[in-house]
Amino acid sequence: MRNLRLIFWALVPLALLGLGLTLVMRGGGEQAPVRETGEALVGGSFALVDQTGARRTSEEFRGGYMLVYFGYTFCPDVCPLDLHRASVALDLFEEQGGAIGNIQPIFISIDPARDTPAVLAEYLQNFHERFIGLTGTDSEIAEAAGAYRVYYQRGEDYGPDGYLMDHSNIIYLMGPDGKYVTHFTSEDTAPTIAGSLLSHVGRR
Ligand code: NI
Repeated sequence: MRNLRLIFWALVPLALLGLGLTLVMRGGGEQAPVRETGEALVGGSFALVDQTGARRTSEEFRGGYMLVYFGYTFCPDVCPLDLHRASVALDLFEEQGGAIGNIQPIFISIDPARDTPAVLAEYLQNFHERFIGLTGTDSEIAEAAGAYRVYYQRGEDYGPDGYLMDHSNIIYLMGPDGKYVTHFTSEDTAPTIAGSLLSHVGRR
């Protein structure tokens, strides 16, 4: 009996060690970017064209926050939901006294073949008025997406000339220095995002 008890107590630290290792292993690698350590990985310069046809570069947004999302206007479900959620979050943020003028929401197309400035302009009518839409050449888009670690690829065909794009759908909050602050996923509700914007971007 005494021996059994000794063995039990000897096993406790081993079990705790095992649990700790499991938690560490589970914490790393599953979700990219990891919220706390993503700073160095995400963000970079871009030079693209907005929905009015004007040339826009990342440098002109320095000094304010950017809310950056990559997607495409023909997206049947994910992009409209995310852009709607971001729009509601921006409204809530403003209603709660947030410095709306200090944050620039930006939608960057990963489907530049179809997303011309005119298509972007029309599409953005559905979302928050502060959104700007950016498009460019394939290589300009590849560079911007690469900087933000955004995955995208042409997906399934549908209809005579339709096709889907597979893409990651993360909303990035970038700071006045252009560096990563935090990000939001489909798990984050509009009020959650608004709260985070209040704490990071601040009030008027
Ligand atoms: Ni989409």
